[in-house]
Amino acid sequence: MNEHDQEKARAIEESRRLRQEKKAAAIERSHQFRAIKGLRDILPPESAQWSRVEQTAREVFGTFGFAEIRLPVLEATNLFARSVGQETDIVSKEMYTFIDRTTELRPEPPIGEMPSYVEEIGRLMESGSIPGTEPNRATFKYLIALGKEIFPIEEKLSELGKLTEYLFQLHGFQLGDSVSLRPEATASVVRAYIQHGMQTLPGNVKLYYMGPMFRRERPQKGRYRQFYQIGAEVLGTSDAPGIDAEVIEMLMRLFERLKLKGAVLNINSIGDKNCRPAYVETLRAELQKVREQLGADSQRRIETNPLRVLDSKLEHEQAIIEKLPRIADHLCDACRAHYAEVKRQLDLRGIAYQENWRLVRGLDYYMRTTFEITATGLGSQNAVCGGGRYDGLVELLGGPATTKGIGFAIGTDRLVLSLQEMGEGATPGGLDIYLAWFGPAAQSAAIGLARRLRDAGFVVELPAVEMKFGKSLGLADRLKARNAVIVGDEELAAGTFTVKRLSDGTQKKLNESELFEYLRGERA
Ligand code: HAM
Repeated sequence: MNEHDQEKARAIEESRRLRQEKKAAAIERSHQFRAIKGLRDILPPESAQWSRVEQTAREVFGTFGFAEIRLPVLEATNLFARSVGQETDIVSKEMYTFIDRTTELRPEPPIGEMPSYVEEIGRLMESGSIPGTEPNRATFKYLIALGKEIFPIEEKLSELGKLTEYLFQLHGFQLGDSVSLRPEATASVVRAYIQHGMQTLPGNVKLYYMGPMFRRERPQKGRYRQFYQIGAEVLGTSDAPGIDAEVIEMLMRLFERLKLKGAVLNINSIGDKNCRPAYVETLRAELQKVREQLGADSQRRIETNPLRVLDSKLEHEQAIIEKLPRIADHLCDACRAHYAEVKRQLDLRGIAYQENWRLVRGLDYYMRTTFEITATGLGSQNAVCGGGRYDGLVELLGGPATTKGIGFAIGTDRLVLSLQEMGEGATPGGLDIYLAWFGPAAQSAAIGLARRLRDAGFVVELPAVEMKFGKSLGLADRLKARNAVIVGDEELAAGTFTVKRLSDGTQKKLNESELFEYLRGERA
């Protein structure tokens, strides 16, 4: 290797090293902050697919007379404990819960200021800033009594702050209200229905919602900690099976419009408060007999919620579960008639379904009709939608006993995933026109033209700074623009625009009205 070659090799090596260093620095920077585990960003072009799904839902639901309700993402923890159920996985393990404490008071008192700290608690409890719950009032009284003995020696106790915190925990004292990120939205809809006295509205109240829900589950494909639902609820005095069927029809109509293939509707009836308790006891008794053959989760559920054993996916439990008593054989007459009529109403609408006696759902508020829709391409998390009837829920949350309810929620993440797996709904890059301009006079003409093109509905990219011709048209190519419109001194002098179709290089000189006509033709 001569000296020149050696020099060249060194230069190549140096530039390789620099490139690697730059790449490593970029990776390091990108690792500084990442989305929290189980939470994700939805980026273009996928986000366009999400919008399309949501827009289609708005249109379809609108034709069934549903209107949108926008709900808060934070609710009182108790709302979910009461409705979804304290013992359910969702409430007992998966909620993001925190104390929304008053900002005026620190969670532990500064050493040496205990008497004024306790006084402050009293004041804040009186004003309502700290909840005046029973445990709070009792702890407060206790603190005062304790204070009489402790305050005099307080300054000597460096750990007093921690001690108070411990006392708070021990006695369930809360410096604020316990709130949770919503794990689902049916409870919120019912809360809003009661809060706003919607029972006085004529007919059934039909509401839909869309937005993020939060459950601290183990993340995997189709299962996230922040996920999205599109849901709908019908609240009113009637529990007519025709309502159940129409809600399902609406759902199937949406899936059809979105061209979702392979959707399978599973339905069941889980009875009501008249017949289910007896069935649950029968089931529990049978489960006790096979207890030793069941896994730890199912064993625990024999006590907490035997119905949930039917949900088990454990291979070795399947044969055992198949032999268990089935709810269909234990429904009371009213529930049996209701279920039969739901099925007839589905038939009337030409909706195919599979009966699945094991479909019990993981939320406590259901009664009678339950349903789930599975879709293809989702692996084990294949339920794209779940729903059912919840007639007692409005009363349970303090509303009128006469109000019945039914609804569903679609997992939007899963719906989009399934559509993607089928190659359905990917939106093509949407740039109609790259508007290249050269020179200050052309920039001002281009700004005006861009506005008129956008007003006419074209998607226009207007470079913010002047670029060389080759670079500008190169960018138009990389942005996958369908056409480049070129404005330079020559065009300005002639009162025309040059338009170039980027797929084949066809070029034309047109005046503005011809240009609009041409571009409309290109879009069609
Ligand atoms: P759910 O079955 O708990 O029902 O959730 C409904 C749908 O949300 C599921 O079928 C699934 O597609 C999606 N989903 C649930 N958890 C996750 C997750 N961690 N990641 C991704 N997707 C998920 C409810 O939430 C009820 N509120 C439905 C309802 C409305 N019932 C009556 N009205």
